[in-house]
Amino acid sequence: MIRCESLLDASAIHNVHTQAFERENEAQLVKNIRHSDRYIPQLSLVAEVNNTVVGHILFSYIDLVGKETLRVLGLAPLAVIPKFQKQGIGSALAQVGLETADQMSEALVVVLGHPQFYSRFGFQPSINYGIVSPFPVPEDAFMVKLLTNYQEKYQGKVIYPPAFQEV
Ligand SMILES: CC(C)(COP(=O)(O)OP(=O)(O)OC[C@H]1O[C@@H](n2cnc3c(N)ncnc32)[C@H](O)[C@@H]1OP(=O)(O)O)[C@@H](O)C(=O)NCCC(=O)NCCS
Repeated sequence: MIRCESLLDASAIHNVHTQAFERENEAQLVKNIRHSDRYIPQLSLVAEVNNTVVGHILFSYIDLVGKETLRVLGLAPLAVIPKFQKQGIGSALAQVGLETADQMSEALVVVLGHPQFYSRFGFQPSINYGIVSPFPVPEDAFMVKLLTNYQEKYQGKVIYPPAFQEV
């Protein structure tokens, strides 16, 4: 089952990221974003199996700076507890999140991640659309998924807000 994060989920979400990434950075990122003005409650989703949270995905607002500064979505982090991986849970979280973002009339989603995993949802190298990373990354790993509301004005450099600084 996939649903929005509730107040009681914080420690379970922390546990998902700590186990999946084998470090605290991404769990801390979630906390930072949750306490910032970039947090979007409808786009913090958990996956439950037998009433236990086993996966989490978060989309939050980041900036795209070109001729003007535009608000876009950043997908980070996404994780599934190791013993529940490869059962479609990560894909289901991504799919529901992208559908919700589209329904919210957002324009696009930026992700830094594994091309083989994210291309299945329609993510493509951001450079194809004139959207560049603020730091050096392999071109194929910095990706965007265009949503229904995308327009050509969405070009420029992605700027991550302070919540991302430590991670
Ligand atoms: C990435 C992750 C969220 C996927 O969750 P999941 O529930 O296992 O995903 P699904 O079962 O829906 O899909 C699994 C598919 O993703 C692929 N996949 C998983 N991790 C991958 C990786 N690091 N690189 C490439 N592909 C990957 C699997 O090979 C599998 O492909 P297949 O369907 O062709 O067999 C999960 O593996 C995870 O939490 N990893 C550790 C944290 C992490 O790296 N998150 C960031 C992703 S950028």
